[in-house]
Amino acid sequence: MSNVNSLIEQAQAALKAFDLEKHNVEAHPSREAVERLRVSFLGRKGVVTELYGEMRTLSKDDRPAGGKALNDLKTRVESGIESLQQKVNEWQLQQQLLRKVDVSRPTEGDHSGSLHPVTLIRREVLDVFRRLGFAVYDGPEIEYEYYNFTALNTPDHHPARDMQDTFYLAEQAQLILRSHTSNIQIHGMMRDRPPLRVVAPGRVFRCDSDPTHTPQFHQIEAFVVDENISFAHLKGTIDHFLRALFGQEFKTRLRPSFFPFVEPGAEIDLYSPKAGWLEIGGCGMIHPNVFECVGYDSERLTGFAFGFGLDRMAMLKYGLRDLRQLFSGDRDFLGQFPARG
Ligand code: DAH
Repeated sequence: MSNVNSLIEQAQAALKAFDLEKHNVEAHPSREAVERLRVSFLGRKGVVTELYGEMRTLSKDDRPAGGKALNDLKTRVESGIESLQQKVNEWQLQQQLLRKVDVSRPTEGDHSGSLHPVTLIRREVLDVFRRLGFAVYDGPEIEYEYYNFTALNTPDHHPARDMQDTFYLAEQAQLILRSHTSNIQIHGMMRDRPPLRVVAPGRVFRCDSDPTHTPQFHQIEAFVVDENISFAHLKGTIDHFLRALFGQEFKTRLRPSFFPFVEPGAEIDLYSPKAGWLEIGGCGMIHPNVFECVGYDSERLTGFAFGFGLDRMAMLKYGLRDLRQLFSGDRDFLGQFPARG
């Protein structure tokens, strides 16, 4: 029978040796070095594995103490390896960022290039709206909570303001990455006076990532403010625009829904023979509180607004399966699209 104390000592020695090796790898980080270290401790013939083999030679009474020492050793080695792997990843990213890019170097092969599907769809949408007499507005991606939420009649406790949904940049300054293009309504209405017919595309950000959601995506906002604007104008504009873009075989449907900045509000679904019904945006009549916020007379003026997901429209139009394809930078995928919109 061997002595449990000797096993514990060996475990301590192994941990010391591991710490030393870990230090060496940190000095010269590489994936291979981390892998070598992992194998030499945790592999089939590794130090830790061999020590576990010695458990057999302990007496029954000694096994719990021996097992505990080895388990401690193993968890510390495992977490050490994990932190090394993380460091190597960070280090490699650093290296990539530091690598100088020669932008003047000629590219190889086909030089024709192609436009991103989101660019193509944005151009098409803007064309339709320009023909309807809409002006194209822009707005900031880094935004004050005020324009993104407060002025849009969204109360402080609204779930969309949650940090799980919205990227906060500096809580003190109440700066965020805008979570929708509706902020452009406020900037546009504060700057210009009605009658307004505006369309506004842009990038938006949310803490979301799965096959149908990416942390960054694109929307297009439209709004009209004038006297006597009705829900019929809203519906007519949406139908016209979606038919112009997708053709007559696509149907649209409005479902009653709640958005704080409109009343009544609805969600917009688009039907395609292939994909069935797909939600692509929200809409409604601009809430009087929004008009009050921008200093408009809510007794005299009415207006409608809607916001669409451009990426979803690109998916429908080009029959894409996975939203993430749009942001993967995969040249084989992106190269299939035309060079001109
Ligand atoms: N901003 C909403 C969103 O991102 C979409 C939206 C709903 C825009 C209703 C509108 C609207 O202009 O009237 O979820």
